[in-house]
Amino acid sequence: MALLVAIPAARAAADPLAPTGRWHAYARGEAATPPMGWNSWNAFGSGIDEEKLLASAQVIRATGLQAKGYRYIDLDDGWWLKRRQPDGQIVIRAANFPSAAMPDGSTSFRPLTDRLHGMGFKAGIYSDIGRNSCAELYSTDGLNQPEGSLAEREVGLYGHVDQDIALYFADWGFDLIKVDACGIRGLTPDSAWVKSGKFRAIAPLVDSDSLGRTNISAVRELYAEVGRALEKHNPDGDFVFSLCLWGAADVRAWAKDLGNMSRTSDDIAPTWGRMLHSFDSAVRRPLYAHPGSWNDPDMLYVGAGDFDADHLVAAKSHFALWAMLNAPLIIGFDMRKAPQPLLDVFGNAAIIALDQDPAGNQAVLAFDSDDLQILVKTLASGDKAVAIFNRTAAPLDARLTAEQLKLRPDADVALTDLWSGRRLTFRGEQPFHLGPRETLIFTASGSRRLADGVYLSEQPGSVNPAVDGIVVPQAEPLVYRPIFWAGTHGTGEHPRYGGWGGAQADQTPYGQTIAVGGQRFDTGIGILANSRLEVRNAGYDRFSALVGVDDSARDRSQPVTFLVYGDGKLLAKSRPVRFGDAPVRLAADVRSAKLIELVARTPKSRRFPDPVAWGEAALRR
Ligand code: GLA
Repeated sequence: MALLVAIPAARAAADPLAPTGRWHAYARGEAATPPMGWNSWNAFGSGIDEEKLLASAQVIRATGLQAKGYRYIDLDDGWWLKRRQPDGQIVIRAANFPSAAMPDGSTSFRPLTDRLHGMGFKAGIYSDIGRNSCAELYSTDGLNQPEGSLAEREVGLYGHVDQDIALYFADWGFDLIKVDACGIRGLTPDSAWVKSGKFRAIAPLVDSDSLGRTNISAVRELYAEVGRALEKHNPDGDFVFSLCLWGAADVRAWAKDLGNMSRTSDDIAPTWGRMLHSFDSAVRRPLYAHPGSWNDPDMLYVGAGDFDADHLVAAKSHFALWAMLNAPLIIGFDMRKAPQPLLDVFGNAAIIALDQDPAGNQAVLAFDSDDLQILVKTLASGDKAVAIFNRTAAPLDARLTAEQLKLRPDADVALTDLWSGRRLTFRGEQPFHLGPRETLIFTASGSRRLADGVYLSEQPGSVNPAVDGIVVPQAEPLVYRPIFWAGTHGTGEHPRYGGWGGAQADQTPYGQTIAVGGQRFDTGIGILANSRLEVRNAGYDRFSALVGVDDSARDRSQPVTFLVYGDGKLLAKSRPVRFGDAPVRLAADVRSAKLIELVARTPKSRRFPDPVAWGEAALRR
């Protein structure tokens, strides 16, 4: 008898769609707003040393950028000498970091972090989830790479997580760690690296070209272990966990559950195409970013190449777009060389304020095309920010409509240009002319279309797709594909980042207009069936939505039941609805609920579940 009772209870606990009453996106660490600062890599690569790092820190302080929020000074790859044997203690390349040399012959970054802390900064360090770092594997000149025996050159975290995190945080006093993943990519037994005896083979492995050949759950567990060590060795919670898995291993779906910021793409470069690639890798993921867990489209390249002082239009676009994405604003420039116009880009307080807005709502695409995009972000004040982005090298005309802002077309909309401060007012729609690669960026206020509440798609920072319904991760085809590391060798650049079919604000999971039974919705949450959304309720009384199976569904075999929970208790439930049925109105009194959960369930699971719609999903007073 006891056994018969125990089985259903165990099953219920394992049901990922069962309500939990709890918000699961990562909220530990120090990233209530996106981290801001400076990192050595884009400016110096492995040629970093203490003098260069401190010089940039000093400029950031002296120019007032620190006071505007640039707080983290991060050391990237190139700092280590070896892993001492047999105790495994990491040794710093003291020739480049003189303050690290201790009288007893050991090395410590404590003097450097003390110095940075004394200047009012936080300090960041770099490691790898495998045994070897990216520059160890890919550096062409070998500059400043770890030295010694095979074991001494194994400077990454693998097998040393607790030891290294204790050293970096408890002993050395760092506040942030960026954890790369080259050490678990490509080191197969038959690779040239392993066959030559240069590095050891390792598993699990990431195959950046193939989700099917990547052990996603094992990779995730390696990163989760680092997160647990960070929490253990930072009892005050003063840490930032920065994942650098470049969009591989489906990380765009799961990093929000275990770290503070996570790279959504391969490395940015100072070219327009690589910036587009980074931007696209994050722009369709607003529901996967929240206070405490941000999409990271990579560090800023403002100052170099296509974004240098001779290309200020492009530099300003890059900066404005990162702010709209709530991206970490990490400068990657040798600040000793920054001319005033570049300092003015980094220092635009109004644009920084968008990035750092406490509501943490990543911008949502209000208009999407390959040429021009309009991004809208809802601020904590209830006002909007809007960016109109010309992706092309030719001038373009655009019209911004009040509807795109979810503001009433029959009332005034007031815009403030965040570069010039110029104000203008319009009703209905406003024409703009954009130069090549130009981004116009404004704050906007008017009469909200939903006067007594908020559409869920206006507050993605408070909506977590805890279970997004994806059974088989697929690569997203909408990310711009520039030429990458291999140049034009091989067969070209193919879609590589999992996440296609993920939950979307104001779109279906596959980027179409939400529609149910022929009725189209310009607002709502699009998600796959067999999903569970967590929604934070900031004091609203009522939840309502028009739900159904999306018209883009292809499987169509399963009826879908929609359920609304408040703090774990069932509040409302639809009848089972089928493809083609008209939308069903679902409403619930959520007055006493802090956490609302929205579940869409089918009787049988499918490998490729149908898209469903929470049309016009809203919280109202
Ligand atoms: C990878 C990362 C970069 C940088 C280098 C260092 O390429 O994506 O951001 O950290 O490694 O080697």
